[in-house]
Amino acid sequence: MNRSEPYYLVCIGCGSKYSPSEVIYKCSKCGDLLSVEYDRKLMRNEVALRWRARALSVWRYAELLPIGDRSKIVSLGEGGTSLNRCNRLGRYLGLREVYIKNEGENPTGSFKDRGMTVGVTKALEMGMKRVACASTGNTSASLAAYAARAGMECIVLIPSGKVALGKLVQALIYGARVIQVRGNFDDALKMVEELCMIQPIYLLNSINPYRLEGQKTIAFEIWDQLGGRIPNKVIVPVGNAGNISAIWKGFRELYIMDLAKDLPRMVGVQAEGAAPIANMIKRGLNEIKFVEKPETVATAIRIGSPVNWKKAIRAIRESGGVAETVSDEEILSAQRLLAKMEGIFVEPASAAAIAGLIKLAKNGLVEQDDLIVCVATGHGLKDPDIILKQFERPVEIEVDVNTLIKILST
Ligand SMILES: Cc1ncc(COP(=O)(O)O)c(C=O)c1O
Ligand SMILES: [Zn+2]
Repeated sequence: MNRSEPYYLVCIGCGSKYSPSEVIYKCSKCGDLLSVEYDRKLMRNEVALRWRARALSVWRYAELLPIGDRSKIVSLGEGGTSLNRCNRLGRYLGLREVYIKNEGENPTGSFKDRGMTVGVTKALEMGMKRVACASTGNTSASLAAYAARAGMECIVLIPSGKVALGKLVQALIYGARVIQVRGNFDDALKMVEELCMIQPIYLLNSINPYRLEGQKTIAFEIWDQLGGRIPNKVIVPVGNAGNISAIWKGFRELYIMDLAKDLPRMVGVQAEGAAPIANMIKRGLNEIKFVEKPETVATAIRIGSPVNWKKAIRAIRESGGVAETVSDEEILSAQRLLAKMEGIFVEPASAAAIAGLIKLAKNGLVEQDDLIVCVATGHGLKDPDIILKQFERPVEIEVDVNTLIKILST
C-alpha cells in the first residue's frame, strides 16, 4: 500500500490495509468488510471552515470524501435534504423535539443518491465501464441514474415481483439492464457479487465502502442543520445495514475531529418478518441468525442476510443504542400518521423508523427531552400501490355544486 494516499481501506476484522486504487470489496486475507479511513492529518477541525462556504450537500464535505479529482464528480445535486421539526408528532408522542430528515428529497427520491454520487465517481476514477447492483428497488433506481449521468452501462438484479413499481420504472427509464431473479434480494446479491468477481464490472451494493462514505454525510448534515448539536437518538430503518453503519461513522468522525462534543445513540428498526439484526441485539446474542424467507410490506428492507450486519451491530452497541422490530400494520399506520400529521409522505421502509419511534415512546425507551432524529430514507410516491390498497376510491359526483355541498356536510 502507498502510504502517501490521503485515505485507504482497512479491514474491520484483521486490520489489513489496502490501497484505494485496488478494486476490492472484502478483505483478501480474512474476508471481512472494509472501511475507508483517512490520514489523521486530514481529520482536523479546521476543514469545517471550508465547509461553511459551500451549500448544504454531499460535496460540502469533500475533504472527508475519498475522491482524488473533484473536477470529475458525477453529481445530480444530491444531499441538502430538509430536517423538519415535527411538533404535532412530538406532542402526540409526549416528546419535545422530534425531527425528520427527509431523504426522499434526493434526486431519485432516496438516500442512495448520496452513496452513488461517490461510488459512481469512484468507478469512473478506476476506469470501469460497467456498474452493477442487486436491489430491493432504490439502489437500482439510483445507480441507473448516476450511471446514465456518467455515460456508463448499468446492470441491476431485482427480486422478481417484489420491487415497488415506482422504483422499477426509474431503473427502466434511466436505461439500466434490468434482470428479475426468481429468488429474494439475498439471492440476487450473491449472484451479482459473483458476476463482478468474474467480469470487470464495478459492484455498487453497500458492501462497497465508498458508497457508505457518501451516506455518512447524513450525519454531517444533521449536525450542521442542528447548529452543531448532536441528537440523543438517531432512528434508522435497517435492511442490508449499510446506512446505519454509515451514519454512525459520520457522527464518529465529527467527534474525532472535535467538531462534536457528543455522540448519538443509534436506533435500528427492522420489520418483524426480516429482523436478524434487531433480534440479535434484543436477545444479546454474539452471532447473527439470518432469516431465510424474509417477508414484509416494506419491500426495501425485505432482507434476511444483511451484508453489513457486523458494522451495524457495532454501531448500535458502541453507541449504547437499541434495536426494535415493527409489524407491517404498525409500519402502514405510521406512514399514514406522518403524512396526515406532518405533510411528509415516506415509503413503508422509512415509515418503519417512525413506527419504531412510536413503539419506543410507548415503552418509555425515549426521554421526553430527548432530541430525536428519524431518517426518512425514501419518498412515498415510489410505492403508490400500497396506498391505493388502503383507501377507498374517491367518491364521484355529477357537475353540480349542490351535490358537492351535500356530500361535504356528511
Ligand atoms: C427506503 C429504504 N429505507 C431503508 C433501506 C435500508 O438501508 P440499508 O440497506 O442500508 O440498511 C433501504 C435499502 O434499500 C431503502 O431503500
Ligand atoms: Zn481482514
